[in-house]
Amino acid sequence: MIAILDFGSQYAQLIARKVRALRVFAQILPHSVTAADLRELQPEGIILSGGPASVTDPNAPTIDREILELGCPVLGICYGMQLIVQLLGGEVRPQAHSEYGRAHLTNIVPHPLFQGVPLGSVVWMSHNDAAVSLPPEWETLASTEGCAQVAVCHRGRPLFGLQFHPEVHHSRHGLRILRNFVVGICRAKRTWRMRDYITHIVEETRARLAQAPSDARIVGAVSGGVDSTVLATLMHRAVGDRFVPVFVDNGLLRKNEAQSVRENFRQRLGFDVVFVDAAERFLEALRGVTDPEEKRRIIGRVFVEVFFSHLRPHDLLAQGTLYPDVIESVSVKGPSATIKTHHNRVREILDLMEQGRVVEPLRELFKDEVRELGRELGIPHEMLWRQPFPGPGLAVRILGEVTPERLGILREADAIVIEEIKAAKLYHKIWQSFAVLLPVKAVGVMGDARTYANVVALRAVESVDGMTADFVKLPWPLLARIASRIINEVQGVNRVVYDVSSNPPSTIEWE
Ligand code: XMP
Repeated sequence: MIAILDFGSQYAQLIARKVRALRVFAQILPHSVTAADLRELQPEGIILSGGPASVTDPNAPTIDREILELGCPVLGICYGMQLIVQLLGGEVRPQAHSEYGRAHLTNIVPHPLFQGVPLGSVVWMSHNDAAVSLPPEWETLASTEGCAQVAVCHRGRPLFGLQFHPEVHHSRHGLRILRNFVVGICRAKRTWRMRDYITHIVEETRARLAQAPSDARIVGAVSGGVDSTVLATLMHRAVGDRFVPVFVDNGLLRKNEAQSVRENFRQRLGFDVVFVDAAERFLEALRGVTDPEEKRRIIGRVFVEVFFSHLRPHDLLAQGTLYPDVIESVSVKGPSATIKTHHNRVREILDLMEQGRVVEPLRELFKDEVRELGRELGIPHEMLWRQPFPGPGLAVRILGEVTPERLGILREADAIVIEEIKAAKLYHKIWQSFAVLLPVKAVGVMGDARTYANVVALRAVESVDGMTADFVKLPWPLLARIASRIINEVQGVNRVVYDVSSNPPSTIEWE
């Protein structure tokens, strides 16, 4: 196990995730953990994370100094490095110029920590302070143009410091450096598997429910999406029928979606969802509303009303919140993350959190880890690899008023898009592909007669995380087939256009 002591870094989870990717278990602990506690945990190595504070501040967070004497290797990253340097007698000072972003390693001393890392390798920096003198018996391992002490170590003891962030994607050989530390230097055994995480969550959930009153259940909303499906499967495995999965049909779903979610749970996962048909209630609340934000607010409010009516006084609420949904301070945080955070953090849910009634077992994980967890749980591939679908459903793809008639048109058009994209074997290669119903009408000609009908826009984007995206250059013949099928098969549409904008500046969804 690798212990990660957290100093409030936006990247602490990212360090844990990279260590887990090396198949070594990583546990995040508060920086205030004592050396005695750590001795009991017997970590094979310790990583001190970065953090927003400055070690030059008298109230700066610190560690129990004895941790540096435990004998197990310690790696300080950014703030963590500065802290070690200062604690052992070196000097850290604020720099005249802060350094953010890309830098190149201009000097590397041969050392196991940098094995396989070439000169010039890109590292990602984010700091104001820097070590200006090293403690006795310490030496420099690497430098960049802007920072002389970008990697340092003790000459005889296994203590190391990196001023840059090896855990971020943009540090080109970052994972290699972490691997050199975790596997090469700490000699951690690479035996950890996702299935160990399943055991951990199952045990934790059982313990949690055991503390609740005997009539308490765990209730969770399922949508058919990856996160809630994995969550539901885990909860069901942990507490069986005391887990109640609730599926709310908001009337804004895709063609046959409600039915297929229901069947998939029963037939492929082996348990039933409580099916709530609230379509009329949602559509009624949306009647006459055209403002996108207003639509979202209404859908959020009605969802909470409907869902919470299934929660009894002692029940716990399970949510499939992932790490990117809860992270507070990531600089790349985009509108989608904010929206999602919002959905899992509405007033009613915050109240439950205060009462200690919310369980979020996936909150330390990233999407690809959740998929791996799902695979370990035996969830079928097509349930794990569905394209994302927004909570407010087709409502944010119908520009203008959401009416049953317009929903019908979009559902049919969307079904054709999915069918054709799947037939072209592109469904899993594309982040999202869907149809949007525009609030305008256009003139056309069909069978010698004039038509004046709806316009459908197609959107297909590639993305790695939904934060940024670009449109997919779909083959012309495929675009032509989709357009032709929609115009011929969906009544009320006489024109199809293709959206060629990227995100930013255009978001993936149109509303
Ligand atoms: P945007 O449109 O912000 O979308 O570029 C980024 C990603 O998030 C999805 N999305 C949502 N997901 N609730 C969700 O669960 C929402 O309200 C929501 N809005 C957008 C969108 O489909 C894309 O994958």
